[in-house]
Amino acid sequence: MTEPESFYKNIFASLADGILIFSSDLKVTKVNQSAEEIFQRSKNSFEGEHLSKLFPNQPNIIEKANYSIVSQISYHHVEGIGYRKSIKKSFPVNLTFSPLVKNSPNITAGIILIQDTSLHQELQENSQQTDHLSALSSLTSGMAHEIRNPLSGIRGSAQLLLKDLKNSDQREYMEIVIEEVDRIARLVKKMMDLTRPTLQDFKQTNIHQVLKEILILEQETLERKEGVFIQSYDPSLPTIKANKDELKQVFLNLIKNAVEASPKGGQVHISTLYNTDYSFRKKQDSLSPHSIIVKIVDSGPGMTDATMKKIFTPFFTTKKRGTGLGMAISLKIIENHKGKIKITSNESIGTIIQVFFPVNK
Ligand SMILES: Nc1ncnc2c1ncn2[C@@H]1O[C@H](COP(=O)(O)OP(=O)(O)OP(=O)(O)O)[C@@H](O)[C@H]1O
Ligand SMILES: [Mg+2]
Repeated sequence: MTEPESFYKNIFASLADGILIFSSDLKVTKVNQSAEEIFQRSKNSFEGEHLSKLFPNQPNIIEKANYSIVSQISYHHVEGIGYRKSIKKSFPVNLTFSPLVKNSPNITAGIILIQDTSLHQELQENSQQTDHLSALSSLTSGMAHEIRNPLSGIRGSAQLLLKDLKNSDQREYMEIVIEEVDRIARLVKKMMDLTRPTLQDFKQTNIHQVLKEILILEQETLERKEGVFIQSYDPSLPTIKANKDELKQVFLNLIKNAVEASPKGGQVHISTLYNTDYSFRKKQDSLSPHSIIVKIVDSGPGMTDATMKKIFTPFFTTKKRGTGLGMAISLKIIENHKGKIKITSNESIGTIIQVFFPVNK
């Protein structure tokens, strides 16, 4: 039985990979919807466009496109750079070239399958950031121990003194001593969190439950700013194998940052998604075969490129009383769970954090 033409049209339109069909003079004749999305331009604007405009300054790509028609052979996994004319930006792509087999021998055309690999590359870059963490580990864990003990001595004595103090000025000073000691203690705890060997006792964990417990903690701080959490959860989200306490730390750090960045009346959107995106999955070896995504979006001021570059560097902070360890700890835990984190941030949209975890069925 032959399928109706609409059946094939539907396949063409719904494939996650971009498809370009080009003629023997290497000009585009047809594209699918994914190609429109990948290049961020409309179907009509592609028509008659030479391939060298879509993949500029890459003679090897033009050559392969040509050979695929002339010699009727395919080329797989060709790395290249695509060009988005409308925003004048390049992006990495993975291409497959094939001759288009047609009934009539004198009509020749070729197909290019396109995958946008930007996300893959960005995620890869983040993972290099934890590499230098191990060097820091032995230093801080030793130091942290040496600091903790005298700290509890100072705190205990200060509290005893506070009891006997009547003068309100003096009491205030002593309270500052205790407050600051607590601050150092929190910092030391965070340093230990960062350098402690990672835990491997993973159990099936419900991310929605983790988020619920965190939101209770952060609700009040956001309400004080007249802001709200907006939650949109995927009911089909499966559980993942994880250490719940560690995940709580991750989402507490990320949601705290979002709340701290929020302007008065700002919304913090938290959503989850069971990701079965074929093209994404295929490139994400470490995330296969399925993954879940937790997305946290704030309407804060966003980050500069310089801040984005240093965000995972331990002790990097732009806050008056920040430790700069929140993101470093989060990245370490996410990587321990074989997950990934992606950050998008700019002045007009605020900050979008996406955390990916693999689902092992
Ligand atoms: N949602 C966000 N919006 C804007 N900037 C952010 C956001 N998240 C992180 N940052 C930037 O990244 C820096 C590092 O974040 P990180 O959580 O590691 O440390 P911190 O928040 O400064 O300190 P701590 O987490 O110890 O309170 C922040 O100081 C801030 O400049
Ligand atoms: Mg933080």
